[in-house]
Amino acid sequence: DSLRLWGGRFADGPAEALAKLSASVHFDFRLAPYDIAGSRAHARVLHKAGLLTADELDRMIAGLDTLEADVAAGDFTGTIADEDVHTALERGLLERVGPDLGGKLRAGRSRNDQVTTLFRMYLRDHARIIGGLLVDLQGALVGLAEAHPDTAMPGRTHLQHAQPVLFAHHVLAHAQALSRDAERLRQWDERTAVSPYGSGALAGSSLGLDPEAVAKELGFQHGSVGNSIDGTASRDYAAEFTFITAMIGVNLSRIAEEVILWNTKEFSFVTLHDAFSTGSSIMPQKKNPDIAELARGKSGRLIGNLTGLMATLKALPLAYNRDLQEDKEPLFDSCEQLELLLPAFTGMMATLTVHRERMEALAPAGFSLATDIAEWLVKQGVPFRIAHEVAGECVKVCEAEGIELDQLTDEQFAKISAHLTPEVRGVLDVAGALASRNGRGGTAPEAVAVQLAEVKADLTRQ
Ligand code: ARG
Repeated sequence: DSLRLWGGRFADGPAEALAKLSASVHFDFRLAPYDIAGSRAHARVLHKAGLLTADELDRMIAGLDTLEADVAAGDFTGTIADEDVHTALERGLLERVGPDLGGKLRAGRSRNDQVTTLFRMYLRDHARIIGGLLVDLQGALVGLAEAHPDTAMPGRTHLQHAQPVLFAHHVLAHAQALSRDAERLRQWDERTAVSPYGSGALAGSSLGLDPEAVAKELGFQHGSVGNSIDGTASRDYAAEFTFITAMIGVNLSRIAEEVILWNTKEFSFVTLHDAFSTGSSIMPQKKNPDIAELARGKSGRLIGNLTGLMATLKALPLAYNRDLQEDKEPLFDSCEQLELLLPAFTGMMATLTVHRERMEALAPAGFSLATDIAEWLVKQGVPFRIAHEVAGECVKVCEAEGIELDQLTDEQFAKISAHLTPEVRGVLDVAGALASRNGRGGTAPEAVAVQLAEVKADLTRQ
């Protein structure tokens, strides 16, 4: 029979249906390396408290080292009878050092403080992995911006042509959002660098253990928790992590949607690399943006992991409740999905072919320089309210005649408003419109160059 952790007061073992329901080992065995690291640290504080002799500590550490190697080699795994990773590894230890010594390690700790400590460790490692993958993607976006320092494109609001912008400016807008996501991960990590080990089941331990020493050994630079109930019951760090990963998914989905649009025949702004697009089983001509579509799809799944965990936590009384076992699968999933998606997404962006002529041909379309007429009038002393009217009138005439703003004759300009002297033509070109928006954060090439340098500097800090 399996080594149950709580056999003493029970006459019967659990029903099979309960054992199946209860088991988490098939997913929480991912925490095994962290569990073993926690056990090593715990053995050391037991020794410090006089509860293990030096010889016992040595044998315990040696047993844990062997167990760790066996886990890494795939020679030791949990079974459904083990229930969870903690029970499985306790069995593994007992098998290696014998029940007398192995049975001493559980003193002063509970799966309740163990599991949340290990979960923090797992998530902190994955925050770093995801942060690194974000740097790669930002690097691809920076590469696109650098390769196209002065390519104009139609800037849009409401998906309608609004004002011309630099393609680099647009791409860096996405990089800015991802920089904030990376910053969120770093700030989350700082907040999560506190160890709940030593909280026991909920009330701490009577054994004179040293939670700060455990925290230090496990890399929690801000020490151990100040409240053992909070330490074992709280999962806001997990909820916040699912928010950050969902936000990354949502930000990817916004890039993805644009790539999908840009890659259509109608836009023809970009072409995807063959290696990062897929074909159709029936239509030989098809080249589909599946990576972008999967990013869009997975963002829904990442949001689901956030809302699911929030619903699990809502109204849970303190301290530990078994509901909390439901915290792990959504978070493992969020990490694993992003770690699959980001490299493919980065590859897609890094290999995008950008059709400069097409973008630039459309940049002034849709009367996107009308604002420039209005702002030119303001510089001539015309109040903006009137300038807006006059520029609107220009658009109306163009629409009626089927022409563009720069095709209006001097006579037509003069007829619309006496303020519209032929000099207004000076602002009716895309390069001039872009160059004029040279304040901080604007779309002028010089302002975008400053932004690019800032984004690159931020990347080296990540
Ligand atoms: N496997 C549980 C979890 O993931 C930890 C075990 C705590 N079980 C208990 N009966 N106190 O949350």
